[in-house]
Amino acid sequence: MLMRKTGQELLSKVVQSGQGLVAARSFFGRKSKHSSAQYIEKEKCYSAHNYIPIPAVLSRGEGVHVWDAEGKKYLDFLAGFATLNTGHCHPKLVSTLKEQASTLHHTARAFHNDVFPEYAEYVCKYFGYDKVLPMNTGVEGGETAVKIARRWGYTVKKICENKALVVFPEGNFWGRTMSAISTSTNPVMYENFGPFMEGFGLVPYNDLCALEEALKNPNVCAFMMEPIQGEAGVVVPNERYLSEVRRLCTMYNVLWIADEVQTGLGRTGALLACDHECVRPDMAIIGKGLAGGFTPVSAVLANDNVMSVITPGSHGSTFGGNPLGCKLAMKTLEIIKEEKLIENSAILGEKFRTELICRLPKDKVPFIRGKGLMNAIAINPEYGTAWDFCVKLKDNGLLTKPCDGNVVRFTPPLILNDQQLSQGLDIIEKTVNELKKC
Ligand SMILES: Cc1ncc(COP(=O)(O)O)c(C=O)c1O
Repeated sequence: MLMRKTGQELLSKVVQSGQGLVAARSFFGRKSKHSSAQYIEKEKCYSAHNYIPIPAVLSRGEGVHVWDAEGKKYLDFLAGFATLNTGHCHPKLVSTLKEQASTLHHTARAFHNDVFPEYAEYVCKYFGYDKVLPMNTGVEGGETAVKIARRWGYTVKKICENKALVVFPEGNFWGRTMSAISTSTNPVMYENFGPFMEGFGLVPYNDLCALEEALKNPNVCAFMMEPIQGEAGVVVPNERYLSEVRRLCTMYNVLWIADEVQTGLGRTGALLACDHECVRPDMAIIGKGLAGGFTPVSAVLANDNVMSVITPGSHGSTFGGNPLGCKLAMKTLEIIKEEKLIENSAILGEKFRTELICRLPKDKVPFIRGKGLMNAIAINPEYGTAWDFCVKLKDNGLLTKPCDGNVVRFTPPLILNDQQLSQGLDIIEKTVNELKKC
């Protein structure tokens, strides 16, 4: 593992800037029983402080919009951390939910049910893989892929017992379990949680020479990476990086695992972000909006030569493959095609970046980057923090959250239309114009 920096300072800065932001709002059109301030206070009192939410208390959502406890309407440009591709409360998903919830919602895979096999076939054919292993959250998908890779390493690649290594790029984010934070280079995520899991290595992201050196180690069974790094600040690798990753992994007999939990399902203007370079990972992990954001559904997809290392009892999940999640996932995937959300993401994403580049001054916003509807802008620290900028965006009617490096992400629902895109752009431009040197 490479050395990782202390993050206490970083965290306390965010904590400080998150305090004192609870603004009293107009009570006009109020929809909730209590005020936003009261909900925030109650959460602070009873919930572990593992998040510092932007101070908006949401009580209703429809399409790309949400309303707060006082009835104020916002454009949701975070969409549940890039989960609500089909927007809030999509009517077809609401009726699918109601129908399946009142028929059969959970059995566990102790028995067969009459939905999971249909879903398994559907999802395999949809993405072009032989097999699916159903899980729930994104991080469970990642854990599953790592387990499969290690087992493949021992049984197929013939790595000596307990020596298998999985390589990750620096800046990776794949969740919060012990394994996931053991590969993290962000101290806010790993500090004081050790001892960490063994068997992981790090290389710089987007650095093919470093990757090749790492893959030469015969104990490496897999390279797991995000095709675009989300949490790290929407970091888009060089063109042909993915193709070269494919080539190197094949050359050194290493499995390539693409974590498409955030980038998949049309988010970047392709079904999987790897499709932009027409390359296929040995394992693809999908999650987040797979079931429209109604229930947590994730999946690992692989061909038989890899997935066959999984034997009965070697892996499982109480909820993985539940009929409710499977039915919602099939309907969500159907909507993505029917409503041409992938195409919409590509077209509107291009417009979004082009407009932002024209409208935003470089001294305040040094860069704008992304693909499809997964985008980010950097805020020059002389003009304040990304956190403060997000709070100002909220006051102006648009919701999102910062990611690493004073960067603000924009991952609106893929059902966004031109008019809503323009409204979003106007709010972002107005908020940037209001920024003053601190
Ligand atoms: C690329 C990526 N992988 C995995 C995860 C973890 O997903 P979950 O929070 O559902 O466990 C995330 C979450 O943001 C992610 O962005």
